[in-house]
Parts: sequence; C-alpha cells; structure tokens
Amino acid sequence: MRIFVTGASGWIGSAVVADLLAADHQVLGLARSDASAQAIAEAGAEVRRGDIGDLDVLRAAAAESDGVVHLAFRHDIAFNGDFDAAVATDRAAIEAIGDALAGTDRPLAIAAGVAGLRPAQLATENDRPDPFPGPGGRILNERTALALAERGVRSMSVRFAPTVHGEGDSGFVAMIVAADRTAGAAAYVGEGANRWPAVHRADAARLVRLGIERAPAGSVLHAIGEEGVAIRDVTEAIGRGLGLPVRSIAPEEAGGQFGFLAGFLALDMPASNDLTRELLSWEPTGPGLVEDLDQGHYYANGSR
Ligand SMILES: NC(=O)c1ccc[n+]([C@@H]2O[C@H](COP(=O)([O-])OP(=O)(O)OC[C@H]3O[C@@H](n4cnc5c(N)ncnc54)[C@H](OP(=O)(O)O)[C@@H]3O)[C@@H](O)[C@H]2O)c1
Repeated sequence: MRIFVTGASGWIGSAVVADLLAADHQVLGLARSDASAQAIAEAGAEVRRGDIGDLDVLRAAAAESDGVVHLAFRHDIAFNGDFDAAVATDRAAIEAIGDALAGTDRPLAIAAGVAGLRPAQLATENDRPDPFPGPGGRILNERTALALAERGVRSMSVRFAPTVHGEGDSGFVAMIVAADRTAGAAAYVGEGANRWPAVHRADAARLVRLGIERAPAGSVLHAIGEEGVAIRDVTEAIGRGLGLPVRSIAPEEAGGQFGFLAGFLALDMPASNDLTRELLSWEPTGPGLVEDLDQGHYYANGSR
C-alpha cells in the first residue's frame, strides 16, 4: 500500500515510516520544514510539503494514497497553554482526510491517548469516555475519526500509552528526567502508587502498521505494552540513573518541579491491551519502561 503519514518526521511517525517501508509499503510523508523533509527523504519515503493546517494538501495527499496514518500534532502550542487550538487543528485535519477517503474503505489511523478513559480503573478498548477540557478535547477527535466508519472509511483510533519510550525519546519521561535533574532529586507525588501504561516505540510502530493492514473499521487499538507501571518505580529508576535521591512530594509542590506535567504525573490511568493483542495478533516485546530507563540513554545528555 501507499500510505500517507502526517507527523512522519516525529518520534512515533519516524518509527512507523520505518516499519511500513520494511514491510514493503510505500510512504508519502508530510513535512512542514526543510529539516523534516530531509529526514523523511533519508528514511526512504516520498515527501509532501505542507502544514497540518493546509487542508487542501491533506485532502489531495489522502486521495492519492491507499491509507493514512495521522500522527502530526501541534505539541508546540499544546504544551504552551493552547491545547484547544492544537485539538481544533487536529479535528479539522481528521475531517479533511475523512472527506477525501469517504466511500473508499481505505484505512485511516489517528492518534489518541488514554488519560481520562477510566481514571484509577483498568481502561479497555471498549471505553468511550466523555470529553473534558484541554487534552480531553482529543476524545471528540477520536469520535470524529471512528464515526467515519459509517462513511466508508476503515477508520481506527490508536490510543498510545502516555509514554512511548525508547532511545531518543524527548517526550514526557525525558521531561521528567530533566525536571528531576534540575531539582536535584527524583520525585513522585504522594505515595507514587499511581500507574502509567507504557509502550516501547518499536511495538507502537508495529501496531500502527498492523492496524493499517487489517484492523476493521471503527476499531480502537491500545498501543500499550505494560498496563500500568507505578510512578514510584519509574522515579526510583530515574534516581538510580541520575544518581539522585528519591523523594515524595505533596501535590501542591509538584507544580514547582514539574510545571504543566505535575497533574498528569499524578494520574492513575492503567489500561489493558487484551483486545488489541487478540484482534491483530500483536505481541509487544518491550523492553519495559523501567528496563529501558535502566539502559542509561535517558541520562546521556545534560538536558532533554
Ligand atoms: N510520544 C508519546 O509518548 C505519545 C503518547 C500519547 C499520544 N501521542 C500522540 O501521538 C502522536 C505522535 O506523537 P509523537 O510523540 O511522535 O510527536 P512528535 O515527536 O512531537 O512529532 C510530531 C509530528 O507532528 C509534526 N507537526 C507538528 N506540528 C505540525 C504542523 N503544524 N504541520 C505539520 N506537521 C506538524 C512534527 O513535524 P516536525 O518534525 O516538523 O516538528 C512531527 O513530525 C501525537 O498525536 C501525540 O500527541 C504521543
């Protein structure tokens, strides 16, 4: 298949591109800059220049492809106070790509997350939560994508664990490492018994490819390798890696150390992958998050 990938230059997207190409698919990757275009071309994919807000570009690229993986997200504005604008851009992109694919039965995979699915209980692929302010707006985007199944699109939502980890990660775990380093102590909030699901990047990329190849229309896929890793275990691994003391901090102190991540770090959001593994015969092989942290690459640079 010839697959149009938005976010092809990103952390997950570059692994998805590599996995698709290795499985003999062709890739058309969206690039908004010369640097991203070069990275995508060097990976062996064709480049389509454009911004995720260029809806005509998205429609045209989707129409000339056999399927779409939509991973681009405006993290630059989302993490700087305007999550709503990032969510709105994402929704417009999903709608535009959906319009181009309507009636074709071609696959569309979009990115979602697990926060807010079923707080403090094991969330499954069958959970359909209600939207909530800020990041919870992505729940509506997932609904938008899944509803395309009724318009002849083999659409699916890929809910990524909040950490898609691996060597080169600059996501939440790298941000936590940087914050701990700056504070001179690795910290968890309260007892640190709250859990985050996790997935290794290579496992996540393979799942996206399997979904594009054979997930039924309207599927929700959980890109989750581990159901829930206690944040205290994560923090202890970071303390080992940085050679720093490990301590508990109160929720009201957490903002001082972790900024916008503080509330997120305290969430308990375990999630299952049983239905996804069964549906696609996908078996995550890891390494797990703590094992990955113990490999040392998260501490190699002085900053993230
Ligand atoms: N990584 C995780 O742990 C995780 C967890 C849960 C959900 N997700 C979701 O999974 C998706 C992929 O995440 P990621 O970690 O791979 O993100 P990432 O490394 O930040 O990559 C984002 C991608 O989007 C592109 N992009 C951003 N703004 C754009 C714009 N205005 N126009 C065109 N392209 C634009 C970036 O292009 P440039 O290379 O040019 O910047 C990059 O290719 C996102 O929806 C993310 O929210 C990720």
